[in-house]
Amino acid sequence: MSELINCQSDKTNVTGVPAGITRRSALTAFAAALAFVGLSSASESAYAAAKTYKICKTTDVKVGSARMFSVGGRAIVVTQPKKGVFRAFNGVCTHQGAPLAARVGTVRTVSGSMICPEHSAGFDTNTGAVTRGPASSPLSKIAIKVSATQVSVSF
Ligand code: FES
Repeated sequence: MSELINCQSDKTNVTGVPAGITRRSALTAFAAALAFVGLSSASESAYAAAKTYKICKTTDVKVGSARMFSVGGRAIVVTQPKKGVFRAFNGVCTHQGAPLAARVGTVRTVSGSMICPEHSAGFDTNTGAVTRGPASSPLSKIAIKVSATQVSVSF
């Protein structure tokens, strides 16, 4: 049986930017402002900062799971907390900086939480919030987009 994954119904902006303002549009506005005041090299940096990476296929991350990827020199975790809803987070624990998986692949999850292998801190697969110490700060969110079966992240 094939599984139809529809992320179009999930309108949550994972960057924390208010609805209607995308990360790219915010960066574009910032770059335009920099260009206006004559800081064109800074403007170019702002455009370059929003690079998009094709990270995986939707079938690579099963419902309820989390998976670590190495993208653009960063550890990124992609989760699918419920069918068709994908999230991406910085894959480095906020406690003492351990990666959430020893290598690219599955991140251990228990009851909707990603578990750090170092001291067992837990992070919500939907929000990145701390669900169990010793970490006290949430995982930072990464902008994610699903187009058909392609999952991409931007940072
Ligand atoms: S480094 Fe992750 S819980 Fe300590």
